[in-house]
Amino acid sequence: MKNKLFCFMLIALLGLFLTTGCASYLDLDKSDMSNTSSLDSSYAKTRIGVCIYQLNDNFMSLFCDELVNYLVSLGFSEDNIIVFGSSNNQAVQLTQVEELIDRGVDALIVNPVNSAIVHTITDKAVNNGIPLVYINREPSADEEANWEEYDLSVTYVGCDARQSGIYQGELLAGLGGDTLDINGDGAIQYYMIEGAPENIDAGFRTLYSLSTLTNSGFKMDCLLDEVGNWDKATSKLITAKGISQNLIPEVIICNNDAMALGAIDAVKEAGLTPGRDVYIVGVDALPEAIEEVKNGTMVGTVFNDYIGQSHNAADAALRYLNGEENEHYIGCEYVKVSSSNAQQVLELIQSSDTDEDANVEYKQP
Ligand code: GAL
Repeated sequence: MKNKLFCFMLIALLGLFLTTGCASYLDLDKSDMSNTSSLDSSYAKTRIGVCIYQLNDNFMSLFCDELVNYLVSLGFSEDNIIVFGSSNNQAVQLTQVEELIDRGVDALIVNPVNSAIVHTITDKAVNNGIPLVYINREPSADEEANWEEYDLSVTYVGCDARQSGIYQGELLAGLGGDTLDINGDGAIQYYMIEGAPENIDAGFRTLYSLSTLTNSGFKMDCLLDEVGNWDKATSKLITAKGISQNLIPEVIICNNDAMALGAIDAVKEAGLTPGRDVYIVGVDALPEAIEEVKNGTMVGTVFNDYIGQSHNAADAALRYLNGEENEHYIGCEYVKVSSSNAQQVLELIQSSDTDEDANVEYKQP
């Protein structure tokens, strides 16, 4: 981080512009300030193993870069941060966890491929006395209850995806029925482009964006609901196919920004104007998506605070390494992004990114 002041400014200013702030991040940030200087020398030889479900996922790649840069800024050596991309394959990820344990890592940070393998990963880490921080994909309630019951050095860092879905619904509802109901038939024809099957973020964003709209009095008429695997190209294909079948949407709700960007491309190629002929929302606040919000092509997005989450994950690992405890759930707030605050959000995110270019060599299987 350039300095802690920027993070404080980010949170404080977002709180001013928007309806929410990042309380949990602020709290950790303060506690972390007192011991950061003592970390610089003592962590140079500490080894951290990181597994990311898929490194070419746009959001997880931002998250991972920030995590590595932050660890380096805390005094970790780049050589001792081993990052594996798991190619969205659970067998690959399990092998990688075993390899990291064999290589003697002192802590693990894992973005699980799915919740089915979490229990096995936890067992492997715990049996080898290695603290474990899960990120981004929340394990089951039963799994988290085990960490509590057996007092395990295992925690989860992430946000409550319900909030992001509600914000998507609010962004659209804020435009009003006269605007959204382009064909004036009394209902909103929409596409839902979902992230991945059985993924908590995808499920909650789908459910809550829609229920927020219906609770606001909109009659929603689903033309298409398909899985885009968080991926721009897949979403572009889904959208293009829908339009070619003459399913003309007034609204496209995407579980993330990468898929919103794909939908925008398809809509444009079909000769429609996003922001006028169809209203599109995403989640993450990728820089490219914020640009689309600024120029009116996207109605809005929701900032998925990869800076706060990656720092919280690193800080949690450090606390375990220092022999301290963590809560078993470390939360974070989403932030609604519309044209009225997009530029400020972009600048504040950029100023809060950790500076160092860690240049860690990611190990692809
Ligand atoms: C979500 C994020 C998506 C994708 C997904 C992977 O939180 O919004 O873009 O990265 O995680 O599980």
